[in-house]
Amino acid sequence: MSPAEAKTQIESLTAELKQHSYNYYVLAMPVISDFEFDKKLETLTALEKQFPEFADPDSPTQKVGGDITKEFVTVKHKWPMLSLGNTYNEQELLDFDQRIRKAIGDNFEYVCELKFDGLSMSLTYEDGKLIRAVTRGDGVQGDEVTTNVRTINTIPKKLKQGNYPEHFEIRGEVFMHLKAFERLNNERVENGEPPYANPRNFASGTIKMQDSAEVAKRPLDCFLYFLYTDKPLFKTHWESLQAVKSWGFHVNEHSELCSSINDVFAFIALWDKKRFDLSYDIDGIVIKVNNFNQQQELGFTAKSPRWAISYKFKAERVQTELLSVNYQVGRTGAVTPVANLKPVLLAGTTVKRATLHNANEMLRLDLHEGDWVFVEKGGEIIPKIISVNLDKRDASAPAIDYITNCPACNTPLKRQEGEAAFYCPNDEGCPPQIVGKMQHFIGRKAMNIDGLGDETIEAFYQRGFIRHISDIYALHQHVDKLKKMERFGEKSINNMLEGIEKSKQMPFEKVLFGLGIRYIGETVAKKLTIHFKTIDNLIAATFEELVVAEEIGERIAHSLIEYFSNPKHLEEIQKLKAQGLQFVAEEKEVTLHSDLLAGKSFIISGVFEKYSRDELKDIIEQNGGKILSSISPKLNYLVAGDNMGPSKLEKATKLNIPIISDEELLGMIV
Ligand code: IVH
Repeated sequence: MSPAEAKTQIESLTAELKQHSYNYYVLAMPVISDFEFDKKLETLTALEKQFPEFADPDSPTQKVGGDITKEFVTVKHKWPMLSLGNTYNEQELLDFDQRIRKAIGDNFEYVCELKFDGLSMSLTYEDGKLIRAVTRGDGVQGDEVTTNVRTINTIPKKLKQGNYPEHFEIRGEVFMHLKAFERLNNERVENGEPPYANPRNFASGTIKMQDSAEVAKRPLDCFLYFLYTDKPLFKTHWESLQAVKSWGFHVNEHSELCSSINDVFAFIALWDKKRFDLSYDIDGIVIKVNNFNQQQELGFTAKSPRWAISYKFKAERVQTELLSVNYQVGRTGAVTPVANLKPVLLAGTTVKRATLHNANEMLRLDLHEGDWVFVEKGGEIIPKIISVNLDKRDASAPAIDYITNCPACNTPLKRQEGEAAFYCPNDEGCPPQIVGKMQHFIGRKAMNIDGLGDETIEAFYQRGFIRHISDIYALHQHVDKLKKMERFGEKSINNMLEGIEKSKQMPFEKVLFGLGIRYIGETVAKKLTIHFKTIDNLIAATFEELVVAEEIGERIAHSLIEYFSNPKHLEEIQKLKAQGLQFVAEEKEVTLHSDLLAGKSFIISGVFEKYSRDELKDIIEQNGGKILSSISPKLNYLVAGDNMGPSKLEKATKLNIPIISDEELLGMIV
């Protein structure tokens, strides 16, 4: 392939995959299968390897759906991971029941289980220890994600005593509870990252992350529902479920033995209502023939077992009138359209609003004033407009176009290439952005200022007392003005001023997170402070030096460079420094274990199976070695893990720098 052809192909695949990833993770409306997606991604990865000069810094091969890097070892399943046939009504279930009766007679039972809406996972145990976890993939082979799965508390890493065989596989569904989903998704929005459309996408995005430490922060759970052993151990599925429960696995408590299809219907009817009381999403019921011999007799089709089927709940759908479309401006300037609806009862709650996500979604719906819309609450918590009832549209109704100017400050909106959201670029003058930034700064996860809340920030801003974060630290000069405010007594003023003073001691990582730089969430802020130690180092860092730091990708590096290139931001940082805030990382005491690495310098790059990069860094420093921030002739060793960037490798090779593994590094200190 000629370089010109490669360039065109890389560009078109990149754009295409970005759109698919957005359809999947944000809109929850994939238009191609996971398998097709992976195939395209593989082609792009191969092309980028051959022609790294044409790779987009924000390529989907680096990030999919925000967090995901698809670089896992592929493992073939010992028993293929099949899917289930679907039914949608009683008749289809009666047909299923008839087929079974024809094949094995009338003497059998069903087990009814909830159908959890997550991602299926196959776990392998040897001698009672979890040795491997593999995703479904295309059913024949999947991704090995053991380190990530180990972070799930309810999955036993080592089994209690029990009558389990030496080797077995157990399958189940990994999912995220609704509460955790809401909390973490809100955090993503606060950090300027796109939210996940539903808990399932969040769970699958999490399982495919490279950094298991980050996975551990996102609480996942797993229900196990099928056991595979070499020799048969139990007579029935029900018995096997009780047994695996006694071995320590999380088995869902709502399964039931049913002796007739009518019992199955009753179970379905019960859970079609009760599903909204669960703390997790289910999208149907799975019905399995209980006896293993009978299962064997029934066998499989090419894709699914004949002894089991799923019944899918209908997503509840209602019609209501569209009253208006509002646009919300977040602290990062991102504009989100929201539909205001005539209140309507849906799945047990009154719905008044539905998110419209972004301009693409508005284009898809082509809303007109006074439209009647179909609203659904499926796997998603926030109701979604599925489509417009065109029969009810008035021919003269004008179309609702996406706004061109900021609803708060009237500045023309901008859209960054490849991004779905429009932004208001007027971060210095747009009120919701100014207020949002200060609210973010004082928030619990950032400076956590006692005695100062979101409403007070808003009220102070309205009165012109504060406009920048640094103004918060000058509030003590305005006590007289503050006292004149309603419901603001001397005691609350003193509390607030005390809280503000105390916050000056908050560590650098909190301050950095509090600045609200796009894509700099809590974890990234922490990693940056560990790596660069001071704000001055961070400001001075070049793009190359930034991407060397752990977890700092090109998207984050660009965002930092852009932020620090704005003189107003630098001026604000100088003010905050003068006010006594922390811009230097607290020195961790380095206890020296040996001086075996004294005089030697290292760079750590890539991902390692056993250690995080920070752990390796500590090991080097504890043995007298030094960590450098970029590859130069001064560097003695490059410690390389998996997935190291090709440019680093090339540079190190050119400079003849020895490239060593983590094991070789550890060998140097024994
Ligand atoms: S049994 C061969 N039981 O649904 C039988 N699957 O549409 C395999 N699922 O890939 C599956 N809850 O990811 C089974 N209680 C349950 C389930 C369940 C959810 C998922 C699973 C499977 C998909 C099939």
